[in-house]
Amino acid sequence: MIKKVTVKTLKKYKDTNEKFSMLTSYDYSTAKYIDEAGIDVILVGDSAAMVVLGYENTNNIGIDEMALFTKAVSTGAKRALIVADMAFMSFTDISEGLKNAGRLIKSGANAVKIEGCSDYILELVKRCTELGIPVMAHLGFTPQSQNVLGGFVIQSKNFEATLNLLEQAKKLEQAGAFAVVLEMVPEESAKFVTENLNIPTVSCGGGRYCTGQVVVVDDMLGKFSDFKPKFVRRYGDLKSYITDCATKYHNDIKSGSFPSDEEVYHLTDDEAKQLNIHCNALQLH
Ligand code: KIV
Repeated sequence: MIKKVTVKTLKKYKDTNEKFSMLTSYDYSTAKYIDEAGIDVILVGDSAAMVVLGYENTNNIGIDEMALFTKAVSTGAKRALIVADMAFMSFTDISEGLKNAGRLIKSGANAVKIEGCSDYILELVKRCTELGIPVMAHLGFTPQSQNVLGGFVIQSKNFEATLNLLEQAKKLEQAGAFAVVLEMVPEESAKFVTENLNIPTVSCGGGRYCTGQVVVVDDMLGKFSDFKPKFVRRYGDLKSYITDCATKYHNDIKSGSFPSDEEVYHLTDDEAKQLNIHCNALQLH
């Protein structure tokens, strides 16, 4: 019997100073394999916009695609806690936000992730939690606000901004968030926030002292090759592997070595004989 990771498991990790792993996934097979590998949390990230759909940034993906990817991931993963990103502009008012958060839960997510910390976001986090939808918060660099932030830039780069980051994280904790992602912030700032919160923090380029670590699976596997953030460690070279396999497949077709006799279906000898006789009669051969 598989013991499912829950928000309580993550809180226990925080309380016992244990680390947890989090990876994104967007499809059934990848979710199944990383779940079997023991990854604690699977994020159906809106990074799917870039690494799956090839869009320029995360703002082009909608709630329909997020729900579809969430359905696929939740079918593949049995143990990991599944968190799904609320797409950009899918929570322009509280009731729309609640409806779309509910949609992701109905698609198989166990929690949603919402970027930011305005009064309005705090209210949404509170209302989601009250309605039974756990919320993972997301601070530091929040990709959905990249046009406001002026691009992919490191956040909380000084003392005051670090105090402000903690203040925001505390408000989100107060509103009911069960964890908070800290993206692209100095390690010292993430450590300070982690040490002063009761809920777990998740580093996405936030250094070594957060409770959990998250990266985009396509980055970690070396599949997405358009760029590589500094904080990503590549554990594979799927890009080369896919290109090599596709090249071999292409060459085998051209040379006639694929498919081989073992890779085709045959009629029985009797049926083949009858077909031959029929062809002969029609002079089709
Ligand atoms: O969409 C995403 O992949 C994220 C990151 C935190 C990994 O939000």
